[in-house]
Amino acid sequence: MIIRLSKRLEQFPEYIFTRLNRTIAEVEKASGRKVLNLGMGTPDVPPSAEYLAKLGEFVKSPEAPLYPGYGASREFREALQAWYKTRFNVTLAPDELYPLLGAKDGTGHLPLALLDEGDEILTPDPGYPGFSGPVGMIGAVPVYYRLTEANDFKIDIAELEKKVTKKTKGIWVNFPSNPTGQVATLEELRPLVAFAKKHGICILYDNAYAEITFGGYKAPSILEIEGAKDVAVELGSFSKMYSFAGFRMGWIVGNRDIVAALAKVKSQTDSGLSTPLQKLGAYALSHPDAEWSKEMLKSYEERRDIIGKHIAKLGLTFAVPKGGLYLWAKIPESAKDSETFCAELLTKKQIVLTPGTAFGASGERYVRVSICANIDKIDEYF
Ligand SMILES: Cc1ncc(COP(=O)(O)O)c(C=O)c1O
Repeated sequence: MIIRLSKRLEQFPEYIFTRLNRTIAEVEKASGRKVLNLGMGTPDVPPSAEYLAKLGEFVKSPEAPLYPGYGASREFREALQAWYKTRFNVTLAPDELYPLLGAKDGTGHLPLALLDEGDEILTPDPGYPGFSGPVGMIGAVPVYYRLTEANDFKIDIAELEKKVTKKTKGIWVNFPSNPTGQVATLEELRPLVAFAKKHGICILYDNAYAEITFGGYKAPSILEIEGAKDVAVELGSFSKMYSFAGFRMGWIVGNRDIVAALAKVKSQTDSGLSTPLQKLGAYALSHPDAEWSKEMLKSYEERRDIIGKHIAKLGLTFAVPKGGLYLWAKIPESAKDSETFCAELLTKKQIVLTPGTAFGASGERYVRVSICANIDKIDEYF
């Protein structure tokens, strides 16, 4: 029997990294050698032992296996409120926050809460593929704005003005950026809030890398801007900040109408963030392990520099990022294009980089190099 699948499946690609992982498996089989995977970025510094011990306790509590109920537990809410106050001096009301199953829960489901078929949403190019796929899935349209080297990979409001239409409902913004590693200051974000208000559109600010920054740089929250909550929500993630990627924990904060709309969608698609994980999140947010965070950042910074030295040998050029988990590097003039460059590197040297085009058309002539990779044997590959 031929299974009749939805037409919707043709409106979006399979997630780039599921495809890439299949290719890796094929290359490993054919070459008989393990690849050096600088493709996907899985935060790999083992989590703080203190938090893991706590999780062990939380899992054993009688309420742990029960449905957690919807929304935030009191302790998760209070911990997130306190953390936002201390970290950003932002006050959050109880209905201005909601726990997520990772920030990707937000990128995946916000389009359902905000967009109808044919609606447009401004989307960064290059940008995290999790922004555009779910938009296409519901028949809405990602309208790409470019982050170019010429503009230091920053947002150009004049370009947004040209791209905004009556159908535009919002804009995805992500700093520290995946994939460019660029960051944004509050001064740079202020005109964006004004732009959104002027056009009556919302800002979906993905701050998943807020705590992964280098050289003393501290990422802001867009909610620090006065009046931002009128138009903006912000996504946060425990994945990078605490190396909890596999636990699937995050949050959305900001505009209460958007938070409520997302909560309504999620009430149909999942049954909430589990009690032990809410307890873990609350504990981690209110008991910072400064020593662990310092070591985690040091590990990424050291690997960034080692990997940077090696990829320079391939003729790749890049600016040292202030944040995020990637190097965004330009391929040599002599290379045909990003995909060919990556494909050749994979077959000839068994090194995996992600072609920049996986992040949008403007990623042509770039590759993204993950700095959270096991590089114990990197010398054998370069
Ligand atoms: C910009 C961006 N947003 C969201 C996510 C997903 O984060 P989480 O693990 O919290 O779902 C990622 C992960 O790579 C990301 O790069």
